[in-house]
Formats: sequence, C-alpha cells, structure tokens
Amino acid sequence: MNKKEILDQEILKSIESVYNFSKAPINRYKKTINIEDNKEKLELLKKKIINIKNCELKKNSKKIVFSDGSYKSPVMIIGEGPGQKEDEQGKPFVGDAGQLLNKMLVSINLNRENVYITNVVNYRPPNNRKPEQSEINRYSEFLREHISIIDPKIIILMGSTAMESLFGYKIKISKERGVWKEVIIYNKTYLAITTFHPAYLLRQADQKKYSWIDLKKIRKKIDELKLKI
Ligand code: URA
Repeated sequence: MNKKEILDQEILKSIESVYNFSKAPINRYKKTINIEDNKEKLELLKKKIINIKNCELKKNSKKIVFSDGSYKSPVMIIGEGPGQKEDEQGKPFVGDAGQLLNKMLVSINLNRENVYITNVVNYRPPNNRKPEQSEINRYSEFLREHISIIDPKIIILMGSTAMESLFGYKIKISKERGVWKEVIIYNKTYLAITTFHPAYLLRQADQKKYSWIDLKKIRKKIDELKLKI
C-alpha cells in the first residue's frame, strides 16, 4: 500500500466509527401524543364536570357518563345525552340506541372499542327530555375541551343536539346531515359530519336509508385519510 492508500483507509475507518447511518427515513411529521398527559387531562376534565354547580341534570341523575372506547382513536362520536341504562352503568350508548350504534359501526367495519364515544351532556336529562339550550351551551364548553384533548381526525355528530352544540341552532339536521364540515376549536380545525341519531332511527326505520348513505361517506373519508383504527 502506498501512502495515499494508507491514508484513505485511515479516513474511511475514522468515518465508519464516528457515523452510524440508518437507512430508515426520518418521519418529520410524526405526531407525538403524550398518552399519560392525555389521560391526566381527561381525568381533570371529568373532575371539572363532576364539580359542576346548580345543574338540574346532575341533581337528577345517578352517575356521570363521561366516555367509552379508545381515547387514542382518530374517530370521535358524539351523542346527545345519557338515558336510563347509561345513567345506571355510567357508560354512553349501552341501551337500545347503543345496540343500533354498534351495528351501524360494524356495517362500515368499525368496532366500538376502537372509536371514542361521548355525549353533549354528561348527566341524564330527567325523563330523557332533550337538553335545553342553556344546558347544551353550558356543556359545550366541556365538549370543546374534550374534543381538543382527544384531537380526532373526524367527528361524527349523532343527531340534532350534537350538531347544535357545535354548529348552533339555526340549521336543520334534514339539510345538514351527510355533509362534511369544518369546525374550529381552540384554533384547530376539525372535520365533522352529522348523521341521524340511532334512537331516531329506531322510531323512524324509513330514515335508515339516509343513515346508510352517511355511513358510507364516513367509511370513504376514513379510507381517504388512511386513518388507522
Ligand atoms: N343516546 C345518546 O345520545 N347517548 C347515549 O349515551 C345513549 C343514548
């Protein structure tokens, strides 16, 4: 080996020992979710709701109904409020409407455990009445915080109460359902779609055909966005 070749060898060796390159590309867009942090935030939000004062809903119900499913899910489902079974079990959508919701999810290859489910109000309205506007407004502050913690890629609003809590009262579900819309919460834009509430579909079976159109749109969006569920 001449002097130049020896020098080249030395340089090569020194480079190899200092740098260790990986062939894997760096994912600069990876979202880092601090899971522990989110769990804590959800607990704090739950405590905040439990501490609500002068609330007729809380006074008349047995338990808080906070949420169910996976808090890591990119899909968040929002219903109206707990019914009797939900009030007893402390879990959303466990009664007849919940059974239908489960079937609706399965029809588009979703599993209840892999989505995140909550309601506009977290305590059962007396006699299952629709929450009043003032109650929807009051709880929508909690709901917004809830959405921002879960940070879903898509929001599914089940029924007019859920739609009103994010989009106001001047719109009609018959016109708005099945349309993707944007909603801004704490400076972040979320994609949301309204569809009929399963309890309504139990009363109005002829409306299921529209629900099926919406469900297919939801599946299509999940595929387009390549959401991992
Ligand atoms: N209806 C809702 O809107 N939410 C529930 O949790 C149950 C029934």
